[in-house]
Amino acid sequence: MLGRLSSLRRAYRSLYGWATGTLYHELAWGYEIVAWMVSLGRWDAWRCQAIDHVIGRRVLEIGFGTGVLLETAADRGIFIFGADPSLEMHRVASRRLRRSSRRAPRVRATAQLLPFTDGSFDTVISTFPSGYIFDPDSLNEATRVLSRSVDGGGPGRLVITGLGFRSDRPWLLRLLRALFAGSDMDSVAWHAGRAAELGFQVTVVDDAATPVRVPVLILQWPARSEEV
Ligand SMILES: C[S@@+](CC[C@H](N)C(=O)[O-])C[C@H]1O[C@@H](n2cnc3c(N)ncnc32)[C@H](O)[C@@H]1O
Repeated sequence: MLGRLSSLRRAYRSLYGWATGTLYHELAWGYEIVAWMVSLGRWDAWRCQAIDHVIGRRVLEIGFGTGVLLETAADRGIFIFGADPSLEMHRVASRRLRRSSRRAPRVRATAQLLPFTDGSFDTVISTFPSGYIFDPDSLNEATRVLSRSVDGGGPGRLVITGLGFRSDRPWLLRLLRALFAGSDMDSVAWHAGRAAELGFQVTVVDDAATPVRVPVLILQWPARSEEV
């Protein structure tokens, strides 16, 4: 019985991997619809929380997808760059930005190899990034392109949302973790612990008063002691 359950889980994970890959490419045009449906309309609020934690004036979004956050940030007067490897996502984001007459320069690149010089940004954002953002190469690159001192103060920051869900309702949490092919652990706590082991100063913002919360992880390097 247990063996059957774990092969079912494995099969669902491969199907999930295939479906997300397709959504980043061939079906990129349908990404927002799917994101809205699986989050019951909350996806945009979860994603755009990251903007509230921006510091400085130079911002990079890694894995911008359909460009909603780029558009929202530009709307708020933030000078934001985007990097995403998917050509199809670039097309969808371009259409969105053109329609709203917002400007956000974009490059085709992965988090593991960013075409920017050292210290180019004050904040790097990544929302719903799947596994790639904790790849050591991605963390090295994010750290490299972040400024050592923002406006003469502390270092720049990497702001990540969408690493996992939290809820005070166990059945809802189990449902979400199963739907998103996650494990049964608290993925946000796990990533926060991993980042701390690597020497980052870590802040977890988990203060939403909603049935499902998507905490924001803020990482800074080199580690500093003051509270965010
Ligand atoms: C789940 S979508 C998230 C899109 C958007 N940030 C959001 O919150 O809805 C993941 C995005 O990351 C991009 N991506 C995949 N692998 C990547 C990598 N190695 N580096 C940067 N972006 C990547 C995909 O093309 C896709 O646009």
